[in-house]
Amino acid sequence: MALIKKFRIKSYKGEEAIVELKNLSVFYNKRQILNNLDLKINKQEILGMLGPNGVGKSTIFNLITGLKDPNYGEIIIDGINCTKLPINERFTKFKLGLVPQYGGLIHDLTLEDNLKLVSEIHINEKELRNQKVNKLISQFEFESLLKIKAKHLSGGQKKKLVIAMALINDPKILLLDEPFAALDILTIKMLQEIILNLQSTEEISIVICDHQARDLLNCVDRAIILSNGKIIASGSPNEVISDKAAKNHYFGDEFNIN
Ligand SMILES: Nc1ncnc2c1ncn2[C@@H]1O[C@H](COP(=O)(O)OP(=O)(O)OP(=O)(O)O)[C@@H](O)[C@H]1O
Ligand SMILES: [Mg+2]
Repeated sequence: MALIKKFRIKSYKGEEAIVELKNLSVFYNKRQILNNLDLKINKQEILGMLGPNGVGKSTIFNLITGLKDPNYGEIIIDGINCTKLPINERFTKFKLGLVPQYGGLIHDLTLEDNLKLVSEIHINEKELRNQKVNKLISQFEFESLLKIKAKHLSGGQKKKLVIAMALINDPKILLLDEPFAALDILTIKMLQEIILNLQSTEEISIVICDHQARDLLNCVDRAIILSNGKIIASGSPNEVISDKAAKNHYFGDEFNIN
């Protein structure tokens, strides 16, 4: 883990926002989920989002991608107000990548065909397409699973496949909704390394939410803690862990990352 932290501090660059959520409020029926939320995601930052079940983490991803419209507030991506921009335009214009909390696969296609299908959508040139798919197959160690239908993959294998599919278009903003859920210890480590490598080699901003708080805090530059529709703490992993409100509403007294 020490290696991961050292890498993180060296590679994080600046404070210029790539995504800004301004005064966002979201209601489902009359239930308020987000309450005047302000959040900046900086260029080349890895941001972690933590908070209890149902607090609105997936909803924030849905707002950024356009899967959900806010009741109030604005969504700015790369300086452009996108609040009313359709989903497909946001994905192509800003090169968004999304690993949804559930699903994201075509169950009756093989692992290889899922990868090829997404590559055909994003990459025109056949040679480049094959290169990209082959690189991901080797990076994620999919060689022995290529011909297996997605519906027959294990939970963790499915999650890995969805993550690989999200990387095909070289996203500039990568949103990972519970990427560590269902992954074994070594696969989590592999994914953390992929995330940190992406940050150091590509101009990419990454947002991760997960309930594996230790694994998340070990690979982010900054974390926010959500509670009752608001951000109640924000800062480096060590800062949020020792924050009083974050302890009261999320971590409890015993939590540590060592
Ligand atoms: N389509 C919907 N209709 C009604 N309520 C919804 C809908 N989608 C989400 N909600 C509610 O919005 C709240 C936030 O949901 P969201 O999925 O964003 O939570 P979350 O923080 O991602 O939770 P988890 O950690 O369990 O994944 C929840 O209370 C949920 O019941
Ligand atoms: Mg969720």
